[in-house]
Order: sequence, then C-alpha cells, then structure tokens
Amino acid sequence: MGAQVNSLPGVGAEIVGVNLARELSTEEFGQVRAAYAEHGIIFFRDQSISEEQHIAFARRWAPIDINRFLTAHPKHPEIAVLTKEADQQENIGGAWHTDHSYDQIPAMGSILVARELPPAGGNTVFASMYRAYEALAEDMKRRLAGLRAVHSARHIFGKGAEYGKARGGRIGNADAAEHLVDSVHPVVITHPLSGKKALYVNSAYTIRIEGMPEAESQNLLAELFAHCVRPEFSHEFVWRPGSIAMWDNRSTWHWAKNDYHGHRREMHRITLAGEALSPGE
Ligand code: SIN
Repeated sequence: MGAQVNSLPGVGAEIVGVNLARELSTEEFGQVRAAYAEHGIIFFRDQSISEEQHIAFARRWAPIDINRFLTAHPKHPEIAVLTKEADQQENIGGAWHTDHSYDQIPAMGSILVARELPPAGGNTVFASMYRAYEALAEDMKRRLAGLRAVHSARHIFGKGAEYGKARGGRIGNADAAEHLVDSVHPVVITHPLSGKKALYVNSAYTIRIEGMPEAESQNLLAELFAHCVRPEFSHEFVWRPGSIAMWDNRSTWHWAKNDYHGHRREMHRITLAGEALSPGE
C-alpha cells in the first residue's frame, strides 16, 4: 500500500501507513524522503521503536552528527537525551532555533522520539522557512540576494552563557563552544533536497549579517525573525506516546513549549549530518 502523506496547515505532513520498527521498502523510503524534502517536517504516530531501531532509521538517511552540547544516551552515544525533570524549571530548546546552524556544515535534520510525556503540554512548534521566504516582499527578496550571515554557538553554550547556566548539567562542553569557529552561510539557500529557496537565519544562532554595519544588520535580522514566526507558517505538534517528528534543519525552525512544570518529559534526538549550503539563485 505504501506511505500516505497528509499535509498539515502551516508546515509539515503526517505520514500514515509505515512502521518504523522494520526496514522501510525502497518505495516507502522514497515516498517518505520526498515528503520530507517537500514539507520540511514529517510526523509519525503510533510507532514503537527501540533505541537501536531509531539509530537504524537515522542511518538510512545520512551519517549521524553527534551533538557536542547535549547529554548523550548512556548506552547509545548517537542519541541525545533531552530531559526536563519534574523539579526543573528550564527545558531544552525552549526558544525558536534550528539545530547546528553554527556548524560549518550544518546538520541536515533531526529525528525526535517521544519517550516520556507530561499529561498535558510540552508541544513543539515548527515553522516553515520555505513559506517564510516565499512570503517576503519582492524588494526584500532582492535585498537578501547574495547576503551571508554569521552563526555562533558561544552565546548559548559557551562559558558563562545564561542558557547553559540555567540548565546546569544538562548542557555541557562550554570549551568546545568557545573554540568553535563562527560559521557563515547564505541568508537565502537553495535547499539541497528540494531545490526550493528557504530563509536560512534563525533567532538563536544567527548573530549578524556579514559585512553590514552592526545597527543595520541587527535591524534586518530583527525584521526577518519577526516575519519567520508568523502563525501562518507554523504548526504546533501535540505529542502522544509513539509520536516521532523528523525535521529538516535547513527549511524549518522549532521550539519546545515549557508549559508542563511539575511533570517529567524525555525525548530522544538523533541529528543527521548535512552538506555545505548553496545560495538561493
Ligand atoms: C529540540 O529543540 O531539539 C527539542 C524539541 C523538543 O524537545 O520538543
């Protein structure tokens, strides 16, 4: 029968009719891959996969890109464990971002499996950077053509960064963040899988537009960040036991809502290696 792809409003598609606990056929994998390229995020429901099956599914897509700042699974270093305990206040990923844009070769995507959910809340909101780009005014598109932006991890994961301090032992490796060389990527990319244009700046890691006076750069980024989070480009995903989300870091943003104090939430994330990004043409 194969996979059925149901588009969602805002961004993303739900994939029905596949069982990720077994190896997908070439046809099924092709359908899922095409939906991922087209929609930027795909969701699966009612799955029951082990850590080993999570890793096997990830490896079908690309080599695994181990995150240096998150807590690794004790038995499977390929998996980052994102936990908020019942007595903790801060969650992980609780502001708009896209994973690894601070890397010279940014990650392709991430596969997030729900392992323990609060009774209510803890949704994740996703936004489409394809749609954000398409909706820009033509003069803004012309202004952005050829621009490049600088991305950094130091202010988030580096020594003394508030984000890391507030999350104590759940975020580590401040030395690695201090030594990371800031990356520079096109502000508008041609997406390597879909060939579509996408905005590639994000409010967590993009710190300035290369070669632009600081005030002008900050104003332009603020305008773009406000535009990217317009509700019509986004979808709030309600997790259920057995839910899996797989997003493309080059064409989406996401943030995890922190509205479930007093309850535990544990998610397992595998990040997939990507490729150098080409400018939108
Ligand atoms: C993340 O930012 O990768 C985590 C998202 C979530 O826990 O919902």
